[in-house]
Amino acid sequence: MARITAGLTTSHIPAVGAAIDLGKTGEPYWKPVFAGYEFSKRWIAEHMPDVVVLVYNDHASAFSLEMIPTFAIGCAESFQPADEGWGPRPVPVVQGHPELAWHIAQSTILDEFDMTIVNRMDVDHGLTVPLSLLFGQPAAWPCKVIPLAVNVVQYPPPTGNRCWNLGRAISKAVASFDRDLKVMVWGTGGMSHQLQGPRAGLINRDFDTRFLDGLTKDPEALAKIPHVEYVREAGSEGIELVMWLIMRGALERAAREVHRFYHVPASNTAVGHIILENPPR
Ligand code: DHB
Ligand code: FE
Repeated sequence: MARITAGLTTSHIPAVGAAIDLGKTGEPYWKPVFAGYEFSKRWIAEHMPDVVVLVYNDHASAFSLEMIPTFAIGCAESFQPADEGWGPRPVPVVQGHPELAWHIAQSTILDEFDMTIVNRMDVDHGLTVPLSLLFGQPAAWPCKVIPLAVNVVQYPPPTGNRCWNLGRAISKAVASFDRDLKVMVWGTGGMSHQLQGPRAGLINRDFDTRFLDGLTKDPEALAKIPHVEYVREAGSEGIELVMWLIMRGALERAAREVHRFYHVPASNTAVGHIILENPPR
């Protein structure tokens, strides 16, 4: 059977992707950011999944105000990097896993989550920057990726609790897929940041630290945080953190933290990254 072996979360800052693409990772500003992923690159090479369910948000690349699915699962064979205004990032095409994606769609919809099934979708920095951070610059991505897009751009986004429960439903779906596959779930975005308005530039290290602690030790408490608290404490774009709860809900309660990284600033945000492993079977 398929099995979720581990999960991770990471910020998905577009400037980080540009730093990689433009060969600037060794510059003094960027060096400490990429240093936080050195362990992670070795770790993932040793624990390479067959498939990553990659939870991210589309930033008006594939969707727009014309169409706003709350949860959308990519069931296609492949996904092209999106053109976000400067041409598509020079990264490999993302190879999907249609069978597992359709299985997760079926299982979660029958569990009463209204997933949107997407058969064509370009993927933006929300999805490609985490791949670059973990896998560097390969000719092809080393595993399949199922994009799972969450609306955190246009009010109202889903609640943290809904995201937590969706993670649990994904765990159940994966466990009932009749193929031997190592699956990881990644949650992206965050941490505290606000990109616009009078509070632009907001960073809240205390909130971020509590969120990282809670993610490992007390995720049920995080699932109760209301939207207004995210926006007040973590800034308007800090609401992306609800996506981390999908990852955490998909893991076992006893998952073990094996790596944590926090750094301020990168572009306009706090970088947060955590790796959790499920107990060995
Ligand atoms: C920025 C954009 C994002 O989508 C994000 O999650 C973090 C930072 C930015 O423009 O700096
Ligand atoms: Fe974002």
